[in-house]
Amino acid sequence: MQHDCETATVELLLEAGVRAELLLGALERRQGSRPSAEHQETAAAPAEDRVQYEGAEGGERLMDAEGKAVMMQWEEPLMEAHAHVVARSGSDVLNVGFGLGLVDEAIQRRHPRTHTIIEAHPGVHARMLRDGWHKRPGVRIVFGRWQEALAQLGRQFDGVFFDTYSEFYEDMRAFHEALPRLLRPGGVYSYFNGLAADNAFFHRVYCEVVKRELATLGFDTQFVALPSDAAVANEVWEGVRNRYWRLDTYMLPVCQLEDTVEQ
Ligand SMILES: C[S@@+](CC[C@H](N)C(=O)[O-])C[C@H]1O[C@@H](n2cnc3c(N)ncnc32)[C@H](O)[C@@H]1O
Repeated sequence: MQHDCETATVELLLEAGVRAELLLGALERRQGSRPSAEHQETAAAPAEDRVQYEGAEGGERLMDAEGKAVMMQWEEPLMEAHAHVVARSGSDVLNVGFGLGLVDEAIQRRHPRTHTIIEAHPGVHARMLRDGWHKRPGVRIVFGRWQEALAQLGRQFDGVFFDTYSEFYEDMRAFHEALPRLLRPGGVYSYFNGLAADNAFFHRVYCEVVKRELATLGFDTQFVALPSDAAVANEVWEGVRNRYWRLDTYMLPVCQLEDTVEQ
């Protein structure tokens, strides 16, 4: 009885949190006070900062100039799961943000027909060329920010994955608005779900906010719970200034565009 009551209270609080976020977002956008993708070139310009690949086999990470981690090896099983959702043999796949190339390696293992990668950072791009990514089967590298690069792409993908760095929720929201112009009907979208990942309650709020916003664009979103306890150990974060993950469960988004969605 007491447990039922607690669950009902949490659900009510969750609903209040979701409504508050949706409302605040709409109001701030109306007043122009939320940073939008078009108005934050400086904040969202990874190209201007140095990045560095650190570590060896099994423990590699990509760090920015301030000692913050852009991408870490512990995410490898999650990237494998994302690739499983967005890529299959003979399909056309888009990935935004190369990082350590973990998701792209996993996508390649599934033998897509085409595999487009958008990457903005010159240092990361140089690493991709050094490792011969431009010669991998079906791979097309689009060097630049997705905010500009999407104009070159059409409604040609069966699967899309999005995982950038140093951007705001409003950027991701702008990316979501472009999805119906990129995905074929019935196509699948997934993103690195690091929203409010230092607080289990607010993380749930953001899962629901994204789900409801994507629903207005014609998506059905489900979350698959995966263990993320590899990131709980303190040693993983040694020398990293931004502990960007604190939860023991990862909610992997599977967002499917309706079959009949109109352009
Ligand atoms: C977290 S890492 C991606 C990790 C990748 N999913 C993996 O499996 O290794 C983020 C990447 O996005 C790139 N990036 C950041 N902002 C971008 C933008 N606006 N357009 C394209 N790439 C961007 C960064 O340079 C970085 O390589």
